[in-house]
Amino acid sequence: MQKNQWRLAFHLMPPDGWLNDPNGLCEANGVYHVYFQYAPNTPAPDGRMARTWGHYAGPDLINLTYQGVPFWPETLDRDGCYSGSAFVEDDGTIDLYYTGNIKEAGDYDYIHDGRISNTILIQTQDGGKTYSEKRRLFGTPEYPKDCTRHVRDPKVWQEDDQYYMVLGARMQDDHGAVLFYESLDGLSWRLLKIESTQNAFGYMWECPDYFELEGGTFLSFCPQGLGAEPFRYQNNHQAGYCRLQGALREKQLFRPFYEWDMGFDFYAPQSFSDERGRRILIGWAGLPDKPYGNPTVDAEGWENCLTVPRVLFRNGERICQKPISGLKRLRTDPVRFSDSGRWVMPDAAGDVELAFKDSKAAWQIRIGSGVRLTYDGRVVALRLDDEAGCGRKIRKAKAEAIRNARLLIDRSILEVYFNDGETVMTTRYYERFAEGRRLEVRFNCEGAEIYAWRMQSMPANKIYDEGEN
Ligand code: FRU
Repeated sequence: MQKNQWRLAFHLMPPDGWLNDPNGLCEANGVYHVYFQYAPNTPAPDGRMARTWGHYAGPDLINLTYQGVPFWPETLDRDGCYSGSAFVEDDGTIDLYYTGNIKEAGDYDYIHDGRISNTILIQTQDGGKTYSEKRRLFGTPEYPKDCTRHVRDPKVWQEDDQYYMVLGARMQDDHGAVLFYESLDGLSWRLLKIESTQNAFGYMWECPDYFELEGGTFLSFCPQGLGAEPFRYQNNHQAGYCRLQGALREKQLFRPFYEWDMGFDFYAPQSFSDERGRRILIGWAGLPDKPYGNPTVDAEGWENCLTVPRVLFRNGERICQKPISGLKRLRTDPVRFSDSGRWVMPDAAGDVELAFKDSKAAWQIRIGSGVRLTYDGRVVALRLDDEAGCGRKIRKAKAEAIRNARLLIDRSILEVYFNDGETVMTTRYYERFAEGRRLEVRFNCEGAEIYAWRMQSMPANKIYDEGEN
């Protein structure tokens, strides 16, 4: 087997070890920063290891380079520097707010007892070269009494010269909730309100995000504990958003909840607005407590990756996701065909755009030997065979029409965007490549126009390409 056969060309991944949530996303002084939950050297199927952060930075979201570990667990965050976000001050200082996780030794359930979550601030004034001391702002004894010990993942923003923060929470009555805090200086915080649903919508909401998009206000969060349904909540934990109505400083009304992604591997997304005003979302292409295998752990010593950055735009109450345009700079060797055909990528990294003439017509696409995408006029289905799926089998999404599709194929991850990103499916898959990383895609799509490009590796990942390391 080829060494590093599943390492990615144009997706961010850990240099080694374990990665989960994207953290601290921002652009400051023209430099983009992508931090992430990181456990260097220790990929583990159950993900149970003390986490810190890793850091990529660069002039755009394609030309990023790995910057190392910005900080390590100490006293305030002994058992993990957990997830958090970035706020960029006018002078370019990056304020990183995150959760310091402490687990006390003893016979605890760590839900109602035995855990301390500190909300911590650490700052960098030189774009991540040096960092301030960590500062505890508030934490477990100060959170509302009707919260369990699960309160975490601060996301901070500013509106009308006031700072706001959302924190994900599990309430004592097992309702997932979001705590809203406000502050005048970003240091001393006051509880503004607790937003939840009357009937529990999951027992815990992780990684909340609150943002404006084209005049609407949205809350993104990750509810845990929703029961699976044939076309909804198919993963063990979900990630989605709903539109909120009403003023931030008042109780807001939740509109329907839409899942960000209908594939097997998507969780804990975070968004930020860059200096050009684009609202960009990056997700973790993975899941906590996942019931699926991940053979990169034993074969290659790394686990999990991030999705490509996705620019958000609205279609009514729905949010559409479009891969960031800079990815097109990695395209090479264009080919064009129609209907049906075979396309071979020598290096298993490609970008495909399809425009269907009849949006109700059935079609089928096979990627390698293990992945099949089908549409029957009502439902798109993503099927993986036993080998490629490692426990993943089928994911489905309803679609009354499919007008177009974009496939990002990258060695062991597939992202599919239907109807200009209204429905997205992200999944890891593990093709056993026969020679090199040769991968064949077979289209059976009558009347479709198909454009395909091979994709080059991003600079950060080039060093792992065979023959170059
Ligand atoms: C989500 C999450 C967060 C937490 C982090 C720890 O995947 O559980 O709630 O801060 O991962 O790595």
